[in-house]
Amino acid sequence: MGKLLEKIELGNLELKNRTIRSATWEGMCDKEGKPTERLIELYEELAQGEVGLIITGYAYVSPEGQQLPGMLGLHQDENIESLQRMVERVKAKGGVIAV
Ligand SMILES: Cc1cc2nc3c(=O)[nH]c(=O)nc-3n(C[C@H](O)[C@H](O)[C@H](O)COP(=O)(O)O)c2cc1C
Repeated sequence: MGKLLEKIELGNLELKNRTIRSATWEGMCDKEGKPTERLIELYEELAQGEVGLIITGYAYVSPEGQQLPGMLGLHQDENIESLQRMVERVKAKGGVIAV
């Protein structure tokens, strides 16, 4: 297995191992781009499964950047609370998540 399951520092992130879940579009956000409970549960499962770093699926930072339904929206302050909740839930399972 080599170093795959060893800790690593990536910038200011400390990852428990070197496995990364690459960005893959889930289409599980609501119309406003807020993560749904289903999506948060999926990320919790990945964290529980010992993935070192979870990269979220398809995200947009301005409304015209949304190409497909269900993308993660970082375009408005109204989404901050749900995004924070998503991160906290992943952290509670020992995971690290990045957009
Ligand atoms: C089904 C599928 C969905 C993907 N969704 C996203 C996505 O939402 N956002 C993104 O940036 N990349 C997306 N990708 C790209 C992957 O994150 C990854 O960069 C790509 O598969 C290349 O990985 P590889 O070099 O390990 O083959 C997707 C890839 C696949 C196969």
